[in-house]
Amino acid sequence: MQTSKNWVQYFTQNLQQHRIDWNIVPNLTSNERQNILKSLQAWQLGETSDGSNLIKAATKYASKSNDENYVEAIKLFIKEEQKHGENLGRYLDLIGEKRIKKNWGDSLFRKFRGLHTDMEFWTIAVITVESAAQIFYQCLKDATNCKLLRQICTDILIDEAPHISFQIERLHVIFNQKNRLMKYLTYKYYYVFYFSTALVVWHAHQKLFKAGGVDFGRYWKKMSLKFEKTIEKLSKKKSTTYANI
Ligand SMILES: [Fe+2]
Ligand SMILES: [Fe+2]
Repeated sequence: MQTSKNWVQYFTQNLQQHRIDWNIVPNLTSNERQNILKSLQAWQLGETSDGSNLIKAATKYASKSNDENYVEAIKLFIKEEQKHGENLGRYLDLIGEKRIKKNWGDSLFRKFRGLHTDMEFWTIAVITVESAAQIFYQCLKDATNCKLLRQICTDILIDEAPHISFQIERLHVIFNQKNRLMKYLTYKYYYVFYFSTALVVWHAHQKLFKAGGVDFGRYWKKMSLKFEKTIEKLSKKKSTTYANI
């Protein structure tokens, strides 16, 4: 397993990577714009959260588990998400569309997250959203020929895989401190939360997914596979997710 210190090093180094050439002029057809705009605006908003609730949960957790570097790792993780939000926002500015301030899916998710203050719920929530994000950004990339937007998506996709590893590692620690009954109940809770969120995401962004060549059947299969992989990693005696990085 990576230590929080390793993650701090990884995020610090990754934040210095600049993989987008902002000299490229955006080139979005009106058909592409129609397919992607609403979803692009909604995810741009979703990526811009200040992360204060997550930092609060991480601070509480880190002091209980004597993992002082964990809060710093979480702060850098949030910074990376904000970088995604900023890049998507910059793209919206360039194509003359506005950055939205409110969206029902985002408000619902924020409200739900606000009810939970423990690290376990946060890691489950983040893994769920990141799993959908991987499919979403691949579809966004496939739904356009705009070179600049495709580069923005590639940059996000490169960042997202380690995000999932980072969260699964933490959930592995928390999960394996439980007895068998609690593990079973947690699994049930995780299952319901994960797949109901997956349905909401599909409902809100199906136009984009379809434009990226993913119908409901494929989407569901991809989400199910990601869920299985996560559970498999949680059930292992030792966390080995660092191999993904
Ligand atoms: Fe992100
Ligand atoms: Fe992420």
